Amino acid sequence: MARKTTFKIRQMKETGKKIVMLTAYDAPTAKILSDSGVDIILVGDSVGNSLLGYESTIPVTLDDIIHHCAAVSRAKPKSLIVGDMPFMSYKVSEEQALENCALMLQVGGAEAVKIEGAGRVTKIVEAVVDSGIPVMGHIGLTPQSIYELGGYRVQGRTKENTEELVKQALALQDAGAFSIVIELVPSETAKMITEALDIPTIGIGAGPNCDGQVLVLWDMLGLFDDFKPKFLKKYANVSEVIRNAVAEYSEEVRNGVFPDQEHSFEMSEEESGRLYGRVKPKKE
Ligand code: KIV
Repeated sequence: MARKTTFKIRQMKETGKKIVMLTAYDAPTAKILSDSGVDIILVGDSVGNSLLGYESTIPVTLDDIIHHCAAVSRAKPKSLIVGDMPFMSYKVSEEQALENCALMLQVGGAEAVKIEGAGRVTKIVEAVVDSGIPVMGHIGLTPQSIYELGGYRVQGRTKENTEELVKQALALQDAGAFSIVIELVPSETAKMITEALDIPTIGIGAGPNCDGQVLVLWDMLGLFDDFKPKFLKKYANVSEVIRNAVAEYSEEVRNGVFPDQEHSFEMSEEESGRLYGRVKPKKE
């Protein structure tokens, strides 16, 4: 696969090719996703829930994302690397947003940033794009605003809400965003937004009508047994694979089955004799 760029991602909408996006937070996983032909790797602030044990994305810091983004970029994936701007890392002022987005590229190795929200945030998106940093927008359910939205609820359920989301998406497109994530909205709402835009939409919990799809990798691999939102399809049961492997290992260690000779190193007979000779001298 040739390296993916924001330009190529935009072209995919024109050619009708669906965009495949997944999250990754480390180098080996990024390599697997790249080798599997994934178009975009999102170093999402979902790292907070997926890896860091937080209950929401709000405690995730810029340093956290940059740390994980740098690991992903060291794998040199062919997929486009998008670094997710975490809570409050871009809303204080345009200057703050520019400085932090620059760090995501310079230190984190991202090739684009994702910024949640619309309204006041649209001007910030415009300033970041003007500075030469590609921006992916994110509307619908924006997890960094869960306290304002009243929890993880489906957005855009009414005609008025849908029209508002279309307006937000068009404003982000005018601000220069190269694509927009649409999270947790009815399929009809996502369809209307997708048809209104020239840039691609990437859905999560937004039905089949977007130009691409994203899932949190650990969720679709089935690492968490208790996370079962309606939109999530599990493609594997990794928690069971891990549990079974750990149980087998534990049993083998306890029973002295592992490590066996096949997984151990040996000295030459001569050295072994000399060693034991010294430690345990042979009786005359
Ligand atoms: O952080 C994340 O993984 C995201 C996706 C759910 C779009 O923002």
